[in-house]
Order: sequence, then C-alpha cells, then structure tokens
Amino acid sequence: SIEKMFMLYGLPLPRETHSVDSLKFAQDFKFKDDDVVAVTYPKSGTIWMQEILPLVLNGGDLTPIHTIPNWDRVPWLEEKRLAVVVDQLASPRALVSHFPYHLMPPSFSTSKAKVIYVMRNPKDLMVSSYYFHQMAEFLEDPGTFDEFMDKFLEGKVLFGKWTDHIKSWTKTELGDRIMFITYEDMVQDLPAALRRISSFLGRNLSEEVIQKIAEHCSFKTMKSNRMSNFSLVPKVYMDNDKSHFFRKGITGDWKNHFSSEQLARFTSVIRKELEGESFSLPWS
Ligand code: PPS
Repeated sequence: SIEKMFMLYGLPLPRETHSVDSLKFAQDFKFKDDDVVAVTYPKSGTIWMQEILPLVLNGGDLTPIHTIPNWDRVPWLEEKRLAVVVDQLASPRALVSHFPYHLMPPSFSTSKAKVIYVMRNPKDLMVSSYYFHQMAEFLEDPGTFDEFMDKFLEGKVLFGKWTDHIKSWTKTELGDRIMFITYEDMVQDLPAALRRISSFLGRNLSEEVIQKIAEHCSFKTMKSNRMSNFSLVPKVYMDNDKSHFFRKGITGDWKNHFSSEQLARFTSVIRKELEGESFSLPWS
C-alpha cells in the first residue's frame, strides 16, 4: 500500500526503516579509509555479510556476533538506525547498503573505503523477496507470485530495478577498492569466499581461523544465532509464522517457482535491460 512505502530519488523505500532524514544522514556520513561496506540489492546476501565482515576484520573473535544484533553490528548506511549507533561503531567499521552507486555520499569517493558487492541470481533473490514480503509487515503484500514478478521487473519494489543496481555498481571505476562476489560462490565454497574477502581486506587469516569463521557463518549456525536470526524483532514487524528470514539458503530454488512462461518473460526482460553491457553475469 501507499502508506508502507514512499518514493525517494526514484526508489520505493519502506517508511518503517527509511526516511528523508535517514537518507540525508547517509549523504552526510563521513567514510573513513579503513571502513568497509558490503553493497547488495535486497535479498542477495546482506545479513550474511553482517556476520562475515566483523569476523574477518577482527580475526575470528565471536564477541560481536554473539552480543550485538546484526542491524547495530553492521548497520545499513541508509536506514534510520545508523544515526543511533554510529558513534558506537569501532574502527575498522563495517556497514551494509542497498544504495545504487550514485547515491553513495561524497565522502565515499574521496576516502579509500572498500566495497564488497554481493550479487545473486535474480530469479532466486526474487523468490526470496516474495517470501520476505509475506512475512515483513513493513512491506506491502506481494500478491500472487505472478503479480510480484511483474512488480519486480518494473522496479516497483524496494530499491527499484535489479538491473539498474547491477549496472550502477559495475561501472564505478573504483578499481581495487571494489570486489565482486556472488551468493552462489559463497554457497558453493564458503572458505574460499572467506579467503578472497580476507585478502581483499588485507587480513592474513590462518586456515584455522577461516574454518572457524565458515562454521559460524553457515546457514545453520546463523539461523540459530539470536543476534542474527531476527527473533529479537517483534512479531508485528516480522511474522515468522508466515516465512523465515533464514528461509532456505540455497541456490536454484527458482526452479520450484517459475513456470516456463514466467521464465521466458523474466529472461527476456532482464536480457533486454542488460543488452550492450560490457560485463557478463554467471546467470543466463
Ligand atoms: S535483506 O532483507 O536484503 O537484508 O536480505 P539478505 O540478507 O540480502 O538476503 C536473505 C537471503 O540470504 C540467505 N542467507 C543465507 N544463505 C546461505 N547461507 C547463509 N549463511 C545465509 N544467510 C542468509 C537467506 O536465507 C535469504 O535467502 P532465501 O533464499 O530466502 O533463503
């Protein structure tokens, strides 16, 4: 409904978590050189990075992931909550963001802060988002799967079109300040993904620490970490009877949801929008 979402900078955003002031706060945010921000289109692996980043940055100390809720531990750049916790963040700070590149604050460009851009198969993230819309009371009801697909392809969902997000972050000229990784890479071989992330962040972690972090960032362990599984969130915001935030954590679940007609429609829209782009994505 109109009340739950509002438009800012051409993007539909949930009122519960975002406001004109929170977006202004993000624009004024002063990035430091040792900050790191994980950027995602929604449902591509954000909460996963909220677990991974503190552990990689601090060499596997479990204290933050066991004592601080994920939204305060690695806050969203654009959400209201940042203003409340910003002064409590210890350096090196980790943040997450769903911003397209052009909404990053001026201080980001002038700093040396690093970005990890996490991508996910759009068909799978759309399925994930569909269920999330059912459980998250601050988002509008998704309607049928077919109706939700239309909204997704038209960009009438939070943070707009997936293709616009991908296009904006693949054209940044950030050079060695940006690293790209996929959700699928992380599902397939989490230790390998952690090695890449830690070397990108200049952390030389032992194999023992990598294995320890992988264990604590597994779907199963995270699902039972009350600081990460949203069980601290009142039912009026997220209704776990309808779906779970930690729903399946797999790749290819789209095959259980798309009809052949929907697959053709989805693929043709995405292909058309990415036509002429210089990058290639691992999904057809
Ligand atoms: S949000 O709302 O944008 O912050 O959501 P986001 O965290 O980006 O995406 C949620 C999906 O990520 C899955 N997830 C994981 N998968 C595998 N392993 C781990 N450790 C993990 N942590 C989160 C989560 O289950 C959602 O995907 P689906 O497909 O719905 O299960």
